Amino acid sequence: MYELAITGGQPLQGTVRISGAKNAVLPVICAALLAKTPSVIEDVPDLADVRTICTLIEHLGAQADFCEGRLRIVPPRKLQTEAPYQWVRCMRASFLVLGPMLAREGKAKLSLPGGCAIGSRPIDLHLKGFHMLGADINYGYGTVEAKARKLAGNSIHLDFPSVGATENILMAAVLAKGNTTIENAAEEPEIVDLANYLNSMGACVRGAGTKVIRIQGVPELNGTTHRIIPDRIEAGTFLVAAACTGGEVLVSNVIAEHLKPVIAKLGESGVPVLEEKDGLRVYPTRLLKGVDVKTMPYPGFPTDMQPQLMAMLCTASGNSIITETVFENRFQHVSQFEKMGARIKLSGRSAIIEGDRPLHGALVKASDLRAGAALVLAGLAAQGETRVGRLNHIDRGYEHLEDKLKSLGARITRKIAAGEMPHHIIHPGIYIGQDRLKDQPEEGNYK
Ligand code: UD1
Repeated sequence: MYELAITGGQPLQGTVRISGAKNAVLPVICAALLAKTPSVIEDVPDLADVRTICTLIEHLGAQADFCEGRLRIVPPRKLQTEAPYQWVRCMRASFLVLGPMLAREGKAKLSLPGGCAIGSRPIDLHLKGFHMLGADINYGYGTVEAKARKLAGNSIHLDFPSVGATENILMAAVLAKGNTTIENAAEEPEIVDLANYLNSMGACVRGAGTKVIRIQGVPELNGTTHRIIPDRIEAGTFLVAAACTGGEVLVSNVIAEHLKPVIAKLGESGVPVLEEKDGLRVYPTRLLKGVDVKTMPYPGFPTDMQPQLMAMLCTASGNSIITETVFENRFQHVSQFEKMGARIKLSGRSAIIEGDRPLHGALVKASDLRAGAALVLAGLAAQGETRVGRLNHIDRGYEHLEDKLKSLGARITRKIAAGEMPHHIIHPGIYIGQDRLKDQPEEGNYK
C-alpha cells in the first residue's frame, strides 16, 4: 500500500549508525524462553519481524515489553506447547521457538513455516537434529509435532550448515541431558551471538563460530542482559548504497570482521572501504568495475547481500556473474532491475549482468526483504524517479531505512501508493507507530 519514491543521482554523504542485527535478535528472543527468570535484550531494532516474534512468544505465555531498543522478556512458568498458525506462517524464524518449547516442556506443536519467494526452504535438518536428541517427530498436513520425555545429548552432523537448524538444535541441546556435538554447524556471527547469550544465562556452549559446536547440557538457565551485535547485512547495504551513488559515507556501529567478504568484493570492484575508529568509510571510486561473485555460507559472500550487490553491478563497467548457491530461487529482483534498464541473463543458478548500462527510474515491486533493499539502491543510482512498492518486505528487516538514507542526503519519501486507500481507514486500529502493520503480517515473507 505504501511505496518509496526515490529521485536518484545524488551521491550519499555523511554518517549512518547501524542497528542491532535482525537475524541475531530473533533467535535470542526465542532463547529467552529457556530461562526461568527475565532477560533484557539491548539494541533491539524496531522491525516488523521483531514485533511478530514478540507476539508469538506472548501467545506462548511470555511477556515482552519493548521500549526504545530495550526488550524485556519474562518467560512463563509453563510454556504453551502449541504455537498459533497465524504467527508461524508469516515468518520462517518463528520455527525457532520449537527448540526452546521442546527443551522446556518436552513437547511442541507448530505449523510449518510459510512458503517463500526465494526457495523451498525445508526444515528437515531441524527435525533430524531434534530426532537425534531423542524426540519423536510427527510431521504432515502442515504441522510438526515433537515429543520427548527428556532430551539427551548426541552427536549430530548437518548435511548443510543451515543457520536456523544450528540455532534450533543448539537451543534444544543446552537443557538436554549430557553432551551434544553439532558438526558442519553454521559459522555465522549470529550463531556466536546466540551462544554468548546462552552462556551468559548459564549454558555451556563451546566452539560457536566454528564448524563444530560442543554443548554440555545444564539443568536450568537464568535470564540475563545481552546486547545484540550490529546488523552486518544492514551495514553491507549502506556500504553498497554509498558505492552505487559514488558517495562517501561512514558506516558506524559495525564489526568490520563480519563484513570482510562484502568489503573484499567492493575492493575488487574498485570501491575503497577503510576501517576507522568509528566504523567503515566508503570512498567514491573513479571506475566501478564488474566482478564475479558466488554466495556461500559464512565466511563466504552472504546470500542476503546478493540482490544489493547486483543493483550495484548493473551500473558497473564490464560484465559480472553472480552465482547463488544458498537458495535456489533468489533472482526475482532481476525482472525489476530489467524494468530500470538493466540487462541480465539468467542461466541456472547464475545471473550474467551486462555492465555499462545506466539505470533509469521505474515502477518496481519488492519480492522479498533484500530484493526490496536492492531496488531502493538501484533507485538511488538511477536517473529520474523510481517508485518501490510492497514495503512490508523492507519494513521486516530495515529499521527506519528511508530516514537513514535521507540523513545521508538521499531524495526519498514514503507515500501512499497511487490509487490505494490507507488501511486505517478501511480497518481502524491495525496500524501502529509509523504506519507499520501490527496485527496482520503477510503470509510467506520471512527473509
Ligand atoms: C537464515 C537467515 C537468512 C539467510 C540464511 C542464509 C535468519 C532469521 N535468516 O535463514 O536471512 O538468508 O540464513 O544465510 O537468520 N535447508 C535445508 N533444510 C533445512 C534447513 C535449511 O535444506 O532444514 C537449506 C535451505 O533450503 C537453504 C539453505 O539450507 O537452501 C540455507 O538455509 P538456512 O541457513 O537454514 O537459512 P535460514 O536459517 O532459513
